[in-house]
Amino acid sequence: MKDTLGREIRYLRVSLTDLCNLRCVYCMPPEGVSKQTHRDILSLEETEEIVQEAVALGVRKVRLTGGEPLVRRGMVSLCRRLRAIPELEELAVTTNGLLLPQMASELKEAGVDRVNISIDTLNPVKYNSITRIGSLDDALRGIEAAWTAGLRPLKLNCVLIGGFNDDEIPAFAALTEQADIEVRFIELMPIGHTTPFGETAYLPCEAVLQRLPQLVPAGDNGGVAERYRLPGAIGTLGLIRPLSNCFCARCNRLRLTADGCLKPCLHSKEEIPLRGLHGEALREQLLTAIRHKPEQHGLLRFDSRSESARNMNAIGG
Ligand code: GTP
Ligand code: 5AD
Ligand code: SF4
Repeated sequence: MKDTLGREIRYLRVSLTDLCNLRCVYCMPPEGVSKQTHRDILSLEETEEIVQEAVALGVRKVRLTGGEPLVRRGMVSLCRRLRAIPELEELAVTTNGLLLPQMASELKEAGVDRVNISIDTLNPVKYNSITRIGSLDDALRGIEAAWTAGLRPLKLNCVLIGGFNDDEIPAFAALTEQADIEVRFIELMPIGHTTPFGETAYLPCEAVLQRLPQLVPAGDNGGVAERYRLPGAIGTLGLIRPLSNCFCARCNRLRLTADGCLKPCLHSKEEIPLRGLHGEALREQLLTAIRHKPEQHGLLRFDSRSESARNMNAIGG
């Protein structure tokens, strides 16, 4: 299904919960968020029904996000049911990885193709400070578990924060030398009511190219990341540059929040409620969301705020 600008909408990001077992400073308020009741969030059956309709309209890739999707009870059985939708080509998950040691093989067996794991630093003290409560060892064990379970290609997401982790660019890049993984640096986005950052924190991904001038382009795979490779490396580096190189013209996605709203754009406040709709009515609302996809997010700059009314944990990135 194409939107009014000819963009083929084939990717649905589904947030299963606002809750998370971490409290990353750029994503969540320090006190966390209060648990929504069952009545507030979509049941897994409702979620499945929406995905089925979206697939009928041309969606071919679904990514489960959060908060932290692995904390949602029943998520593995949802994966199994989504995998049974014949036209669905790819089922992926974005996770902080903490629960992967106990869940990776179950997820693989349920039909999940691959996972993207968030890890912003390789230093245990810094990991604990950026996540407010997390342990680096747990995240590393999660990455190991995903690899062992065969959830591949495996991608690591690192939000680039000037003065916090820019000194680790070479260390992150080195991870790609011996392993077929993709390490992605993501520009920090000013969204939600989270910890304010100073201007220098909003470091453009250009910093990665300056720090690693030996990088060579590694080809486009249709995603939001510009891909590079260190000479001789097995894996790749990705740069996700929503601020310095807006990729809205290639945007192929819709987002579904845990409470049942469709967001045509990550950074717009427009939301289209789907709860209670079935069949033709549900399909019509999905089409409305596709029609309402804006051309691009408002000029997102370090000194502006996203127009989205939600924190990142309630959207899922
Ligand atoms: P792949 O399917 O592996 O390409 O993953 P992905 O990049 O689509 O998903 P992931 O959940 O790993 O997202 C990585 C980062 O890209 C997150 O910080 C997202 O917020 C950001 N991102 C993804 N899609 C968009 C988008 O449409 N607009 C903006 N501004 N950022 C996005
Ligand atoms: N800016 C950039 N990336 C963010 N993420 C969460 N909040 C932000 C933000 N403000 C990232 C997470 C995760 C992905 C889904 O979104 O680190 O990798
Ligand atoms: Fe949790 Fe991911 Fe938000 Fe961190 S970025 S608090 S891991 S949802």
